[in-house]
Amino acid sequence: MIFTAGFLVLALWGLFGVATDVSHNSQKVTLTPRKVPKGHVAGLRKRGLSSFSVPLIDQFNGTDLQWYGNITVGTPPQILPVVFDTGSYTLEVESTTCGEPCANQVTFNASASSTYIGLNQTVTGAFSTGGGVGPLLYDTEFMQTWHAGQDTVGVAGISVPNVQFYTIVNQTAAFASDPYSGILGMSAKAQGLFQGLIEQGLPAIFGMYITPKSIGNAEITLGGVDESKIHSEVTWSDLPPNSEGNWQLNSSQISVNGKTTTFLVTERTIIFDSGTSNMYFDPNTTEAVYALISPDIQPYAPELGAYGIACDKIDSLPAVLDLTFTSITGQPFNLTIPSSELNVGPFPNDPLTCQTMINSLEGLWLVGGSMLKHYYSIWDLTSQRMGFASNGVPESAGGGVLLCNAGVAAT
Ligand SMILES: *[C@@H]1O[C@H](CO)[C@@H](O)[C@H](O)[C@H]1NC(C)=O
Ligand SMILES: *[C@@H]1O[C@H](CO)[C@@H](O)[C@H](O)[C@H]1NC(C)=O
Ligand SMILES: *[C@@H]1O[C@H](CO)[C@@H](O)[C@H](O)[C@H]1NC(C)=O
Ligand SMILES: *[C@@H]1O[C@H](CO)[C@@H](O)[C@H](O)[C@H]1NC(C)=O
Ligand SMILES: *[C@@H]1O[C@H](CO)[C@@H](O)[C@H](O)[C@H]1NC(C)=O
Ligand SMILES: *[C@@H]1O[C@H](CO)[C@@H](O)[C@H](O)[C@H]1NC(C)=O
Ligand SMILES: *[C@@H]1O[C@H](CO)[C@@H](O)[C@H](O)[C@H]1NC(C)=O
Ligand SMILES: *[C@@H]1O[C@H](CO)[C@@H](O)[C@H](O)[C@H]1NC(C)=O
Repeated sequence: MIFTAGFLVLALWGLFGVATDVSHNSQKVTLTPRKVPKGHVAGLRKRGLSSFSVPLIDQFNGTDLQWYGNITVGTPPQILPVVFDTGSYTLEVESTTCGEPCANQVTFNASASSTYIGLNQTVTGAFSTGGGVGPLLYDTEFMQTWHAGQDTVGVAGISVPNVQFYTIVNQTAAFASDPYSGILGMSAKAQGLFQGLIEQGLPAIFGMYITPKSIGNAEITLGGVDESKIHSEVTWSDLPPNSEGNWQLNSSQISVNGKTTTFLVTERTIIFDSGTSNMYFDPNTTEAVYALISPDIQPYAPELGAYGIACDKIDSLPAVLDLTFTSITGQPFNLTIPSSELNVGPFPNDPLTCQTMINSLEGLWLVGGSMLKHYYSIWDLTSQRMGFASNGVPESAGGGVLLCNAGVAAT
């Protein structure tokens, strides 16, 4: 998810200070199978933590929307489902004090935690991208009010004391259908829970296997990768300098069905956000891509930034998007979004018009779940780079194939 300024300023750099930078010694990442027994935490701690996986549930509503899994907060631990969100920094969970606006979700009861400390700060802000497929209708559609606090936070039975986070004490109605209670920021500068795990010796890297519903078994592996889900060599690409905690890569070219235009062969910095369902491009890029798919794809007037086309035309349209990046060995490689992602379903108020995959927002180039679910993705904080590999899912079932092996760096 991407927050707008209200949250960013206060939440990230105001209250908790600038995140501790990760070390930049270029540690070689070896892909080791996950074989950490749960429940041996004390033993592991002595020699540093080994990687472990957390199962994720796919929020499926016609299209894959969002993946979420459990963490615990408080003493004794209270289980809360959260989105592991590479597009944000902080942890927020809904509070029991939120009352009616949070009535559909599991909430955190701070009064029931002996280790909770409330911090005297409240922030209110808005989201500019999120879990649903629609763009924002108006600036205040997705708004929350947060209280700062601190408590023990854990995942997979491993806990970190004194993690600073926010409890959500109010929110707008647009959140009511979310099946999760909050968001765990997994930015490229570790904070909070993940930073605490790194301080306990967990390697500063994680792997994501966020699969389509038809495949299931989605998971995030913290501290390493799940080699059993990796079905090709890994292609690595460095984050551009000064990425400021954003998971992003420079892209040299966007192609549609094998064709491109002069305008689409321009360098763009594209954010990879596991907490956002759809794609966002700036208006000019969006128009250029849609022009290569069909002139019938047009802005959908009732929802600013959304595009659509008659539903009876959409399924016959080829719409293969190749986004070209450069690997750490200097070779181009493509990440491909297949035609099956073009249709994100009919607009709720206009069942004959189907929404198409890219929403436009000025100044934003971002891919989310609809791209990430086709690959195994590796998020390496230590070396500030991302890795991609085939996830073993057949192309017919939505798997992505890394077409160009020239860019592969052996690990
Ligand atoms: C599923 O999507 C439809 C259409 O967008 C929407 O009306 C409905 O509220 C969604 N259901 C849930 C449970 O989110
Ligand atoms: C999260 O915990 C709840 C409550 O124990 C459980 O029902 C649910 O299956 C868990 N979800 C995942 C993804 O493990
Ligand atoms: C929260 O916990 C406190 C202390 O255990 C309890 O008195 C209160 O009823 C709980 N509130 C809710 C909404 O469960
Ligand atoms: C909380 O912060 C407000 C505004 O900064 C201040 O007026 C108030 O005294 C603080 N309360 C406590 C308990 O620190
Ligand atoms: C909670 O947010 C709603 C807007 O969704 C607002 O109308 C309401 O006044 C807020 N409640 C409190 C207690 O701030
Ligand atoms: C990445 O792209 C941005 C925006 O075009 C540019 O400012 C930056 O120099 C590029 N970085 C690298 C390493 O190519
Ligand atoms: C990337 O995709 C474009 C368009 O399909 C193609 O022309 C190009 O050869 C591909 N590049 C690689 C490295 O596979
Ligand atoms: C978008 O394209 C229009 C028409 O070519 C141009 O005038 C405008 O400057 C472009 N906007 C951006 C942000 O590049």
